[in-house]
Amino acid sequence: MPLFRKKAPEPELPSVLPEHIGIIMDGNGRWAKKRGLPRRAGHGYGAQTFRTIVKHCEKRGIRYLTVYAFSTENWKRPQEEVDAIMNLLRDYLKESLADFQTENIRTRFIGNFEPLAPDIRALMREAEEVTRDKTGLTLNIAVNYGGREEIAHAARLLAEEAAAGKLPPGDIDEQALSARMYTAGQPDPDLILRPSGEYRTSNFLLWQSAYAEYVFMDILWPDFRPADLDMALAEYARRSRRFGGV
Ligand code: FPP
Repeated sequence: MPLFRKKAPEPELPSVLPEHIGIIMDGNGRWAKKRGLPRRAGHGYGAQTFRTIVKHCEKRGIRYLTVYAFSTENWKRPQEEVDAIMNLLRDYLKESLADFQTENIRTRFIGNFEPLAPDIRALMREAEEVTRDKTGLTLNIAVNYGGREEIAHAARLLAEEAAAGKLPPGDIDEQALSARMYTAGQPDPDLILRPSGEYRTSNFLLWQSAYAEYVFMDILWPDFRPADLDMALAEYARRSRRFGGV
């Protein structure tokens, strides 16, 4: 008997990797329901999966990862569930502050933070501050994020600049809008993953996803494992991206 069990070999990595991955972390509620647990328990397990997958993306050399943690529409959920998701975000930020110092991950937040609790906003600012100069994975956490809200916000900024005489309306083009999105300066997502078996975009990165490849997977987010991400990477590598050309 060998003393050490051989580790499973690392899968061969595809030669073409996405630079930016977006993930709609869906299926927490159904995962909990299947187990007779409250929905908040599903979000708790989903938060663990989030931590694992962030590390895995870093390991795979992904440059940008954007996760959908809370949408502008999620306020319609029961107050108890909204509080549970906010508490998970708060706990994650508090628990991760030490890791933020040592890891090479740049953490950023995208969305409209006005309605968020002041202590969460302060923790978000601190996370951004502490990780600002990190050179590894850039992690965007979308909180109170909606693609339409983001586009309306960018349009408002442009209108304000035009009204102040700082921007001729004729200069408003796609680049001008991109530069006013919450993801300004970052590449558009190449690959967007949606687990849970739903086939919708749900207001996620509407502007940026014009040429993203979508991979929909029939697995609930709390069950999503690094091997599932690897499968999506392999599927992405098989796609032929033409960006409207031939
Ligand atoms: C969608 O599943 C998931 C959410 C609305 C919340 C996602 C939040 C987390 C994974 C945890 C908090 C995040 C961080 C960054 C710590 P759903 O509830 O719509 O699932 P269902 O469609 O099965 O009901």
